[in-house]
Amino acid sequence: MVKIHSLLFQISLLPLFTNALKIDLDDFSSLQNATSLIAYGMMDYYNGHDYGQVIGMFAKPYYWWEAGGAWGCLLDYWYYMQNDTYNDLITEALLYQTGDRNDYVPLNQSTTEGNDDQAFWGIAAITAAERNFTNPPPDKPQWLYLAQAVFNTMALRWDDSTCNGGLRWQIFVWNSGYSYKNSVSNGALFHIAARLARYTGNQSYVEWADKIYDWMFGTGIISDEYETYKFVYDGANIETNCTDITRYQWTYNQGLVLAGCAYLYNHTQDEKWLIRTEQFLNGSVVFFRDNVIYEAACQPNKNCNNDQRSFKAYFARFLGVTAQLIPSTRDTIMRWINTSAYAAAQACSGGTDGHTCGMDWVWKGWDGYYGLGEQMAALEFMVNTRALDMPPPYTSFNGGSSTGSGAAGTERDPTNLSPLHITAGSKAGASIITCIVSISILTGAMWLVA
Ligand SMILES: *[C@@H]1O[C@H](CO)[C@@H](O)[C@H](O)[C@H]1NC(C)=O
Ligand SMILES: *[C@@H]1O[C@H](CO)[C@@H](O)[C@H](O)[C@H]1NC(C)=O
Ligand SMILES: *[C@@H]1O[C@H](CO)[C@@H](O)[C@H](O)[C@H]1NC(C)=O
Ligand SMILES: *[C@@H]1O[C@H](CO)[C@@H](O)[C@H](O)[C@H]1NC(C)=O
Ligand SMILES: *[C@@H]1O[C@H](CO)[C@@H](O)[C@H](O)[C@H]1NC(C)=O
Ligand SMILES: *[C@@H]1O[C@H](CO)[C@@H](O)[C@H](O)[C@H]1NC(C)=O
Ligand SMILES: *[C@@H]1O[C@H](CO)[C@@H](O)[C@H](O)[C@H]1NC(C)=O
Ligand SMILES: *[C@@H]1O[C@H](CO)[C@@H](O)[C@H](O)[C@H]1NC(C)=O
Ligand SMILES: *[C@@H]1O[C@H](CO)[C@@H](O)[C@H](O)[C@H]1NC(C)=O
Repeated sequence: MVKIHSLLFQISLLPLFTNALKIDLDDFSSLQNATSLIAYGMMDYYNGHDYGQVIGMFAKPYYWWEAGGAWGCLLDYWYYMQNDTYNDLITEALLYQTGDRNDYVPLNQSTTEGNDDQAFWGIAAITAAERNFTNPPPDKPQWLYLAQAVFNTMALRWDDSTCNGGLRWQIFVWNSGYSYKNSVSNGALFHIAARLARYTGNQSYVEWADKIYDWMFGTGIISDEYETYKFVYDGANIETNCTDITRYQWTYNQGLVLAGCAYLYNHTQDEKWLIRTEQFLNGSVVFFRDNVIYEAACQPNKNCNNDQRSFKAYFARFLGVTAQLIPSTRDTIMRWINTSAYAAAQACSGGTDGHTCGMDWVWKGWDGYYGLGEQMAALEFMVNTRALDMPPPYTSFNGGSSTGSGAAGTERDPTNLSPLHITAGSKAGASIITCIVSISILTGAMWLVA
């Protein structure tokens, strides 16, 4: 969309554009046309190729993590709408921001990055693998590898020293939030573990998923107060040994855990994951009014920040895969997605282009809000109306061609990008180099002592 800078200007335009985007869910071409306009409006916030800007990052004030979310959103757009317009940009961004160790902790973000931030890039990577998105060149890290590196580096931060386990929100001690163990960090690790379990068939990921889920449930950041409904609360502080649960509920947390359970049920066929999936689905009802999605914790008071305005987008994506993986969830989920998509089309009727998306879709029409999050959320709900028309996520056994390594992110030699090419010789080479480095450090130390 064309950015609007003055409120007066905005109000003066309101009466001019009363036409909502027209979509008819039974007409694929109407959906393609409408979503291509929304995607175009979304990319209005991408300036990675402008002078002085950085590839992969969206315009200020949008944080790095949301860019990871946005590239994942465009993967959904490509897949469901069969439009590859942005595919080269997606690949370029996902590869540019990997960081030197190919684990999505790039140096530029390392002073501020949290576990949740890293996870959203990892989720984009596993999505690319599961959709069999075009593989990067062999000298670049592969989608599966990147997702595994995110998982491995996050799992290494598991902290048993307080609260009986769990991940802290922050990676670095100097960031505020280091003493908070939150649902988005732990829920995202659970979610990635579930997807890696299904994609690779490696049982270790199932065991990790169990451990993370049990910890979240044990502390109470996953609710245990109702029989048939489950909620994900925001998190808890280590100062109280995680007994002070912050009871905010966000769509993306509910979605991370819901879809994680769905992947695990589909993979393990263990009944407990089906029951949990259905309980989180039952709990998701708090985010719908007349079947239209809303961000319950901030939208009614109109105080959602930029991050929070994108949460619905991920929730739509997670609902879509849940419906693909578990037939019993389909009626409920598709009713929510379909109704919300029509409501979003009504709400995408603002701005100077006449189809800028708003925040509140229960309100029939554009509510005057606009931004990257609004575009992403509308796009995800619309494209996910096609969830049942496309193959569910592929695995390495049925069509997924991405390669990886169980040790991704923990290898000593971070330039070891293409696991397919690892040979006994190159491994031996690596340990010889490590050995030489250690000896020279030792020699240096002795020289200092002497
Ligand atoms: C979508 O756009 C194409 C190309 O502009 C047009 O031919 C088609 O009629 C449009 N479909 C709908 C349903 O508006
Ligand atoms: C694909 O997306 C681009 C950009 O959003 C748009 O210009 C083009 O018309 C779209 N093609 C179809 C078939 O929807
Ligand atoms: C890091 O920041 C510098 C300076 O803005 C920029 O040139 C570079 O492209 C950035 N790299 C990444 C991976 O973001
Ligand atoms: C913290 O809580 C866990 C249960 O979540 C309990 O096992 C542990 O003993 C508690 N630690 C302290 C120091 O109270
Ligand atoms: C979900 O809610 C429905 C309706 O309240 C209930 O019948 C069902 O048992 C619940 N599912 C689970 C797994 O508890
Ligand atoms: C797993 O998902 C696939 C694809 O939707 C489906 O065919 C299969 O029945 C699912 N398995 C279970 C146990 O739900
Ligand atoms: C959602 O819309 C699709 C496309 O029109 C339709 O096939 C499906 O039956 C709808 N599902 C529900 C539950 O409304
Ligand atoms: C996935 O991509 C690979 C490499 O392009 C291709 O050989 C394979 O057929 C694709 N799988 C599916 C299910 O399309
Ligand atoms: C399975 O996953 C675990 C945990 O990440 C990893 O340590 C192990 O190397 C993996 N195994 C294989 C065969 O990839």
